[in-house]
Amino acid sequence: MKWIKVDVELPREDFIKMIKVGGKKICIVKHQNKLHALANNCPHAGGILSGGWCKNGNIVCPLHRYEYNLETGKGLLGQNDYIDIYPIEQREDGFYVGLQEGFWKRLFS
Ligand code: FES
Repeated sequence: MKWIKVDVELPREDFIKMIKVGGKKICIVKHQNKLHALANNCPHAGGILSGGWCKNGNIVCPLHRYEYNLETGKGLLGQNDYIDIYPIEQREDGFYVGLQEGFWKRLFS
C-alpha cells in the first residue's frame, strides 16, 4: 500500500468532496466528525458519489439513490454491489490516503 498526502485543505465541518490523490479521483467524506475515503464513481451506472449526500451512515448516489456504507463500502441489501474504501489517517503534516498499488506494478517491482 502506498500512502499519499492529500494536498488540499479539508474543512473542519462535515463535507463531501472529490479530491485527486495520486492521480486518482477519491470521494472524501466527513460525516459525524469522522473522515472516510471512498471511490468517487458509483458502480451502478457511474454516478458521482461526491455529488451525493449522507444518510444513516451511508453515502447516497445522486443518480438513482443507491446507498453504500461509509465504513465497509457495501451496498444496501438487494443492490449486490460495493464501492472501494480507502484508509485515511491524520499525521503531523496533514492527511494521507492509502492506495493499493496496481497489479502490474506489484508484479514487476
Ligand atoms: S449511478 Fe449511482 S445509483 Fe445509479
